[in-house]
Amino acid sequence: MGTSRNPGMLAVIAGVALAVLFALLGLTTVLPGQTAFALAIVALVLAALLYVFYSRGNVIEKTGYGALLLIIATAFILPLLLINQQQAQATQTSTNYTLTLQRGAALFGQQCARCHGYQGQGIIGPRLNNSPVLAKLKDDDIRRIISAGVPQSLDPATLDNLQMPAWSQAYGGPLTDDDISYLISLIRSSDKAYLQTNNLPVNQNGFSFVLASLTNPTQIADFNAQLKSGSKPPDSSFADLTSQKTVTIDAQDVSGFAVPWDWVTQGAKDASGNPTNNIKVKAGTKIIWGNKSTAPHNVVSGANGQPNNKFKDSPGILGANSSDTYSVTLTTPGDYPYYCGIHPPMVGFITVVP
Ligand code: HEC
Repeated sequence: MGTSRNPGMLAVIAGVALAVLFALLGLTTVLPGQTAFALAIVALVLAALLYVFYSRGNVIEKTGYGALLLIIATAFILPLLLINQQQAQATQTSTNYTLTLQRGAALFGQQCARCHGYQGQGIIGPRLNNSPVLAKLKDDDIRRIISAGVPQSLDPATLDNLQMPAWSQAYGGPLTDDDISYLISLIRSSDKAYLQTNNLPVNQNGFSFVLASLTNPTQIADFNAQLKSGSKPPDSSFADLTSQKTVTIDAQDVSGFAVPWDWVTQGAKDASGNPTNNIKVKAGTKIIWGNKSTAPHNVVSGANGQPNNKFKDSPGILGANSSDTYSVTLTTPGDYPYYCGIHPPMVGFITVVP
């Protein structure tokens, strides 16, 4: 009997052809790579089994080779199945994580944005998006703050007067523990170092989902207004201080403002004669910030609660009602908005002209 008449040989040829076909389908990504690989192995093993079946060996040999082939096939395919399973789980986890952030963003837009800003940039409440303060806290600390709120002072007599309301249902607020977990994940998604330590996707800042969650036109308009508030104020709001070599800006107690303090630029009046923090100065002017108010402040170069590093931020805090000062000399013409990193509504805008 010649080999050409052995049906086992035909099976091998067909099996190899099929395996090549599957490999090609896998390489051209018509089939997922691992599936194609597994199918190719199955085709080869089936062909080999048929070959063994039609070979001249006795039954014991045939059974032995057959068993060997099956073991080899299993050894190849089992790890593939495991890898597949792990990948499916990873995809599931990352879909769940995105969903968590979207839920957090939707809650944030409705409950938190009016005080903390739609981008978490800070308005009356401090910044939460990529906040250096929160980076130092544990998840549990953040949970406690959100759940129970923040009292105005620790004096037992006024402990019920809250700067931030309690949010957990356990404290009479509207949110469940799950809601608060979503919000914590949202806040943490803006902290790259936290994400890296906890093995979470780093390029997904949940605050970018807030806009998509808004359906109320007034909220969408507020969202856009908050984005624009970083742009240059109108000319008529500027004071011309180009004749001064130094400009002094002191934090002072004020009323009727988003926070009970504001920057007051000494000697600066706008076109209507009102005090203004929008000033035009000559290149080389020294700007000196001080603090005559009842709260600590600092100076951050940037707008809308987002630092832009156009000049160096004050390295520390200007103590309440102290002689602490911080100064910079602005030598390059351009626009230099600034704000208080602790109270982002306290802003000013310096335009330097040649
Ligand atoms: C009515 C305004 C208001 C609302 C609404 C509000 N907050 Fe606050 N939040 C504040 C104020 C004010 C503070 C600062 C209290 C302080 O001085 O420590 C604060 C502080 C925080 C802090 C601590 C930040 C820090 O730097 O110490 C977190 C976290 C926080 N809020 C989360 C939330 C979340 C989440 C929501 C929505 C569920 C929310 N807040 C809604 C006003 C608000």
